[in-house]
Amino acid sequence: MTKINNNYSKLPGSYLFSTIAKKVREFESANPDAEIIRLGIGDVTKPLAPAVIEALNKAVEEMAGEETFKGYAPDLGYDFLREKIAMYDYSNRHCDISADEIFVSDGAKCDCANIQEIFSTDNTIGVCDPVYPVYVDSNVMAGRTGVYNHDTMRFDNVIYMPCNADNGFVPQLPKEAPDLIYLCFPNNPTGAVINKDELQKWVDYAKKNKSVILYDAAYEAYISEVDIPHSIYECEGAKKCAIEFRSFSKTAGFTGLRLGYTVVPKELIIEGASLHDMWARRHGTKYNGAPYIVQRAGEAIYTEAGRSQIKEQINYYMLNAKIILEGVKEAGYEAYGGVNAPYIWLKTPENMSSWEFFDYLLETANVVGTPGVGFGPEGENYYRLTAFGNRNKTIEAIRRIKEA
Ligand SMILES: Cc1ncc(COP(=O)(O)O)c(C=O)c1O
Repeated sequence: MTKINNNYSKLPGSYLFSTIAKKVREFESANPDAEIIRLGIGDVTKPLAPAVIEALNKAVEEMAGEETFKGYAPDLGYDFLREKIAMYDYSNRHCDISADEIFVSDGAKCDCANIQEIFSTDNTIGVCDPVYPVYVDSNVMAGRTGVYNHDTMRFDNVIYMPCNADNGFVPQLPKEAPDLIYLCFPNNPTGAVINKDELQKWVDYAKKNKSVILYDAAYEAYISEVDIPHSIYECEGAKKCAIEFRSFSKTAGFTGLRLGYTVVPKELIIEGASLHDMWARRHGTKYNGAPYIVQRAGEAIYTEAGRSQIKEQINYYMLNAKIILEGVKEAGYEAYGGVNAPYIWLKTPENMSSWEFFDYLLETANVVGTPGVGFGPEGENYYRLTAFGNRNKTIEAIRRIKEA
């Protein structure tokens, strides 16, 4: 008799974005003239850079020629892209990562979710609270957690690391060391970053406790301050204890095109096994390579024109972030993030719950953000605004929030 993976039944269901959509729909039907501004979803809005479009067109043309047509891509990625990544994202930042330690994929979400497969289900996991939900849910599905407790809004057997205003939204080293430690900086949803000394402490802690850090740097391109590490491999010894995820989604607007990569250093040996070889084996068996056309588009972001065009896009979003951060502060709110990340993490006024504040802003300003509690219980009384919107709408949203 067939049996299902019962771990799926532990998942409480992702109500966050469906509840938001339902509330907005209801509000719209009751208020058909209201012009709602959405600053909730973490998706980009700017079109792809001209250098990317040019590379895409060229690659499509190649697919039309007998001599230049490409079939299956190498499962770990084309060398032309892996070499550019190694040079621009690592070597130029003094990180010693070679092209064959880079595994090209169709995005960071899949990699963050799939990486747990190469580790035993006996491992404990440590996650920040609030958190990008993929890290927890993928471990729930794999059976690495207990059941969901509706009162605490947490899964049993998971080490939650609270991130709040008291610790600057950077978790403290847990007393009980998790075997697998998920860190994400710049952070979604809080917009917080970690400085190099603090990150070094995590690397030292992981090495001491024989833990592995799974470091999600999907928003690396948004870092504007100097002392903030762009990669965990800027820290001494990280190659022995850390895996890093990167994405072209927010760096270059590839959310619809799909491209990312994971770095698994060859020095990362656990119980005598090479995680690099295990991830290569996993990729070879379960993944058939990101499309040639998309990898050529990815390569284009490392050209001189590509680099300056994507910088311009990021500057556009980060000016939105500045407008939001300064605007909400002028309106009297306590707010965080928005300097090295496209997210602004706003404290709700007068202890309003995240959902009460959601309703309040929808009704009074017709602005939609994301209730912080949707990312974990420590997100209660917080609200996330994103900088990925259109400039004029962002300015208008802030004007309305000030008047609300
Ligand atoms: C922290 C974090 N990691 C990964 C991703 C997913 O990136 P990708 O589009 O490459 O799958 C997101 C997307 O919102 C994210 O916020």
